[in-house]
Amino acid sequence: MSIRKMVERDLPEVMKVDSDAWSKWRLESSGKREKLVPRPVSLLRMYLDSDPDGSVVALDNGKVAGYGFARRFGTLGYVGPVAVDPASQGKGFGKRLTEACTDYLARAGVETIGLETMPHAPKNLGLYAKLGFKTDGLSFSMEKKPPSKVLLPTGVGSEGIEIVKADSEDAISRIGDVCKQALHGMDYSKEAYYVRKFDLGMVLLINFHEQCVGFAICYTFRTPTQKVGMFRVKFSAMLPEYCRSPYVDAFVDSWESWALKLGLTGVGARFYTKNERTLDILLSHGYAVASSHVKMHKGRFPLDDIATLHIEQWGG
Ligand SMILES: CC(C)(COP(=O)(O)OP(=O)(O)OC[C@H]1O[C@@H](n2cnc3c(N)ncnc32)[C@H](O)[C@@H]1OP(=O)(O)O)[C@@H](O)C(=O)NCCC(=O)NCCS
Repeated sequence: MSIRKMVERDLPEVMKVDSDAWSKWRLESSGKREKLVPRPVSLLRMYLDSDPDGSVVALDNGKVAGYGFARRFGTLGYVGPVAVDPASQGKGFGKRLTEACTDYLARAGVETIGLETMPHAPKNLGLYAKLGFKTDGLSFSMEKKPPSKVLLPTGVGSEGIEIVKADSEDAISRIGDVCKQALHGMDYSKEAYYVRKFDLGMVLLINFHEQCVGFAICYTFRTPTQKVGMFRVKFSAMLPEYCRSPYVDAFVDSWESWALKLGLTGVGARFYTKNERTLDILLSHGYAVASSHVKMHKGRFPLDDIATLHIEQWGG
């Protein structure tokens, strides 16, 4: 067995491992025998391009038997997705891949190495615990169907609110400014650049009298077999002083309106459940829990003292 950096020509084999490993997990966890489509190649290309030194493959007799991605966002780095071909599982590949990903993040100097896994996956939980990851609370993925008509900002103070699609370098740098003020070193501005570069979705900014007070980096892609996809808010945050009505309501309404305009089936967002502010916002907007993950980390845990809207999925 050997581990090496991933290169572009590995991607077809990486996609095969992705489909086979996750189809096996689905059968084990739900009894459903179905061939899952792999993640879109543009998404994998984006991971590889954004963190080439954190993208690795495991080789078994010269063939790709597993893959791992690690991604860095300022002081935060996370591991995932990681998967091993069913025929090669149980031989130490998953462990070696996860270690290679955490080594990259440690070398990059992040303060937090995070990951998320399924709470009903004893093997995964045991594997990560053995590698020194501490277990935190749950993340919820919450979802909602789009509204029947476009929603416009309403309420006192809503006159100065503007929600815009960010398509300039300057607009994206404003995300870095919001992160600096609201997220203590976690910085998602890189993702805004890559989502646009690989045409995976859109970046929304909420401005109040031309000051950027929040952002949402959203995935809107469809998998090859899907006619319609979801509007997934991958990362979002607001300045704490604007995380209230009418600003936050207008922002959440804008996601749903975009989902409607793009003909998508729903809006989804994943976040740490101990962030009660985010939980309250999504519950009060009619979102329902669709699934949950366990957060695990090494190093500093940065999420407990964030009391503003913060949507963050650790993993692919
Ligand atoms: C999770 C996955 C990547 C693991 O890969 P793998 O190559 O089978 O894992 P490994 O053989 O390297 O390691 C398994 C480790 O977990 C340990 N383990 C397994 N079950 C365990 C349990 N119930 N409790 C404690 N430890 C356990 C094993 O003992 C082994 O550790 P060891 O090498 O110290 O003995 C693989 O099963 C997979 O692709 N699953 C589907 C996709 C997935 O779940 N990806 C991860 C999402 S977070």
